[in-house]
Amino acid sequence: MRDQLEEIRKRAIADLGDDATETQIENVRVRVLGRSGELTEIMRRMREVPNEERPVVGQLVNQIKRELEARIAVLQEKLKAAALEKSLSEAQLDVTLSGMKIRRGHVHPIHQILEWMLEIFVGMGFEVAMTQDVEDDFHNFEALNFTAHHPAREMQDTFYLDGGALLRTHTSNGQIRVMEKRQPPLAIVCPGRCFRRDELSVRASPMFTQLEGFMVDRRGKITMAHLKGVLTEFTKAFFAATAVRFRASYFPFTEPSAELDMRCLLCNGAGCAVCKHSGWTEVLGCGMIHPGVLRAVHYDPAEYQGFAFGMGVERTGLLKLGVGDMRLFFENDQRFIAQFPELSGGAR
Ligand code: DAH
Repeated sequence: MRDQLEEIRKRAIADLGDDATETQIENVRVRVLGRSGELTEIMRRMREVPNEERPVVGQLVNQIKRELEARIAVLQEKLKAAALEKSLSEAQLDVTLSGMKIRRGHVHPIHQILEWMLEIFVGMGFEVAMTQDVEDDFHNFEALNFTAHHPAREMQDTFYLDGGALLRTHTSNGQIRVMEKRQPPLAIVCPGRCFRRDELSVRASPMFTQLEGFMVDRRGKITMAHLKGVLTEFTKAFFAATAVRFRASYFPFTEPSAELDMRCLLCNGAGCAVCKHSGWTEVLGCGMIHPGVLRAVHYDPAEYQGFAFGMGVERTGLLKLGVGDMRLFFENDQRFIAQFPELSGGAR
């Protein structure tokens, strides 16, 4: 039986030459190691082997089995490597073919507008602070001098959440959030999403973006003149406006309050449909921070003073890009969006 085993081994090794094909290898495996293969057959006939020889024969069977399995593994590994080598050498890259055009995405126009606004304010020394969209009545209204039944609350139709929380109606909550935590001097801009119960229309959207800004320092250090300087500078940098004017207005959180208009970019003051024949376009709201607001964040109005401003980013975007309909910014229609690949750099 030992001779027979040696015979099986020799034949298998001979069949598993270096150039054995996958089929040849598989044939040997089935013939020798398979369920009804030669080695299995020998094991089955172990009864015929004299008792004292059985362990030796058994060991020999195992040894041959291991040897052949190892040999098969080596050959299969070699075949795999050769197949890979072959496929790599056959795959040819024709570098003279013209390339595929890859369509690159880009930042949404509203975000580009916002980034550019921030860049201008950061250039003037402002810091950017993000504040929360989900607010409480205190930070969105109360601390901003909207008393309980203040009529101005109704100017901003609010989304209320269960438990009394609300979605902020403006980024002015950023003033309160930042001043509560920090001490002057402060020069901060707060961009963010705002929400009001407005129908989506040409000029309004229930969700929109605002940029809030404020500057506070010791009394007398930040005056209305600084407000005018900073906001005139911004309007010139952003719109290349030829002239601006400050018009008296009202906000609960500023006193005095003003709105900044710039000379209409379309008609340059001559009067057109866009500026409703006034020659001016409204850009933003602003004013000196109301003493009540300072008190709400535990600043002493006798000691500190500052100004604040706020503007709608979509609204400003409409003016800047000459877009006629707010809804276009929210519909994500590629035919519209793709027209503003990169407002930064040259196109500005
Ligand atoms: N919060 C105002 C709004 O949503 C915008 C605004 C006006 C912000 C004047 C200010 C400001 O900080 O001084 O319409």
